[in-house]
Amino acid sequence: APSLGYPATRIGSLGTLKEGVGQYFAYPDDAAQGLLLKLGKPAIGGLGKERDIVAFSAACTHMGCGVAYKGERLQCPCHYSMFDPAKNGQVYQGLASSYLPQIPLRIDAAGDIYAVAVEGLIWGRARNIL
Ligand code: FES
Repeated sequence: APSLGYPATRIGSLGTLKEGVGQYFAYPDDAAQGLLLKLGKPAIGGLGKERDIVAFSAACTHMGCGVAYKGERLQCPCHYSMFDPAKNGQVYQGLASSYLPQIPLRIDAAGDIYAVAVEGLIWGRARNIL
């Protein structure tokens, strides 16, 4: 079941999601960007046949710059923090000291992918739902 107060928002579909290519989306509102990923290897919290579909807040937990998906990592262009999307967004390099908030997903029978919550606080916010 979705967590308290979070909308279920369609952010993509199995039919158009490509392995290795991140898709940006807005969640839980238009001011917050997320990244939907198909990693090609199992991930913690991953959905789909290969358990490899995950999503994260795209706001770096150091100072809020937008991260990008490159070389199996989420990388921040500002001060080079790197996060592991297969391990709950754990930071393994750089100035960020906390995980990227993971965005739990649901996939329906038609293959539509929904964001249903945010685990952890989106950078720069006092709470995720404004
Ligand atoms: Fe991402 Fe500084 S804002 S490393």
